[in-house]
Amino acid sequence: MQTKILAKEELSLAISALRNGNVVAIPTETVYGLAARLDNETAIEKIFYSKQRPQDNPLIVHIASMDMVADLAVDIPKSFYQLADAFFPGPLTLVLRKNPLVSDQITAGQSTIAIRMPYHELARKIIEKVGVPLVAPSANLSGKPSPTTSLDVYEDMKGKIPYIVEGGRSTCGIESTIVDLSSDQPRLLRPGSITKKEIEKVLQSSLEKPLPNVTVPGMKYRHYSPTAKVLLFDDFMNLLDYEKTSSKKKVILSQKEGHTPFSATNIFSLFRIADRMKIEEILIDCSEVIEEGLINRLTKASSQ
Ligand code: TXA
Ligand code: MG
Repeated sequence: MQTKILAKEELSLAISALRNGNVVAIPTETVYGLAARLDNETAIEKIFYSKQRPQDNPLIVHIASMDMVADLAVDIPKSFYQLADAFFPGPLTLVLRKNPLVSDQITAGQSTIAIRMPYHELARKIIEKVGVPLVAPSANLSGKPSPTTSLDVYEDMKGKIPYIVEGGRSTCGIESTIVDLSSDQPRLLRPGSITKKEIEKVLQSSLEKPLPNVTVPGMKYRHYSPTAKVLLFDDFMNLLDYEKTSSKKKVILSQKEGHTPFSATNIFSLFRIADRMKIEEILIDCSEVIEEGLINRLTKASSQ
C-alpha cells in the first residue's frame, strides 16, 4: 500500500477513507493520532496491527461535540461537565464509566472509557464530517516516541495506512493529560500540558495518584523511548563529567548556552532526530525546573 500525505485541500479523501473503514493518521494539538471510526471492528483491528499495540491497551475516543458523549458513557458526574467546560476542546482526556453498548474492543474489556475533544481544527472537522467519534491512539509504532509531524508518522506507518493528513507540527508536543472520573475520587493517570493545579482549581478538590493496586493498562508498557539511551542529570557538572568519560556518540539537551534547548513541544521530535542521526546517548540537563508533563516523559524514556 502507498501512503500519501494529504494537504488540507484533499481532506475529503481522508474523510471517505475513514467512513469506509480505513485507518487514517490525523493531526491533533498533542500528537498525531491513528484514527478509525468507533463502530468498525475491522478498522480498529487494523489500528492494533499497524501500531503493534498490545490488545489489552484501551483506545481514546475522540469527539467533535458534547452530544457525542451520551452514547459513550453512563453515570456521568458533574466534574466531567466542569472540566469539559474549562478545557474542551483541548489536550485533556477524561475517563468515565462506559456505556455497555460500546465495544469491548475499544476499551480492552474495561468498564471505563477515555474521551477527548481535540482542539486541532482539522481533527474536529474530520470527526464531524465522518459523523461518528473516532478512536485514535498516538500514530507511532508501540514503544517509539509519539509523532508530532506528518513525517514522523510516515516514518512509522509507511506502507501500512493509505493517508496521513498534514496538519503542521503538533503544538503541545506531548500526549493529553488523562484524568479518571469513573470513581468518587478523581485521579491523574497521565500528566500533560494541562496541569494538575489547573484541574484542581476547576474541581476545587485535589487529584489523587492512580490506585497502586490497579494497573492502568497504558502504564505498564515502556513508552516514548528513542533507540538512543536517555540519561538524566540533576547536576549539570555531573553531566559534563559523564560526557568526558563516555566514548559513545552523544548529544546534550540543556537550556544552558551552547547546547540544544528542549521543552515539551520539541522533546519527541528531538528523540526522533537523535535516532535518525544514530546518536547513542542523549544526556539531559534536569537542573532547572521542568514542567510535570515533560519530566514524566523524560523519566519514562530513561527508565529501562
Ligand atoms: O493526546 C493524546 O491523548 C493522543 C492523541 C492522538 O489524542 N492519544 C494518545 O493515545 O496518546 P494513546 O493510545 O497513545 O494513549 C492513551 C492512553 C494509554 O496509556 C491507555 O492505556 C490510556 O490512555 N487509556 C485509554 N483508555 C483508558 C481507560 N478507559 N482507562 C484508563 N486509561 C485508559
Ligand atoms: Mg501512545
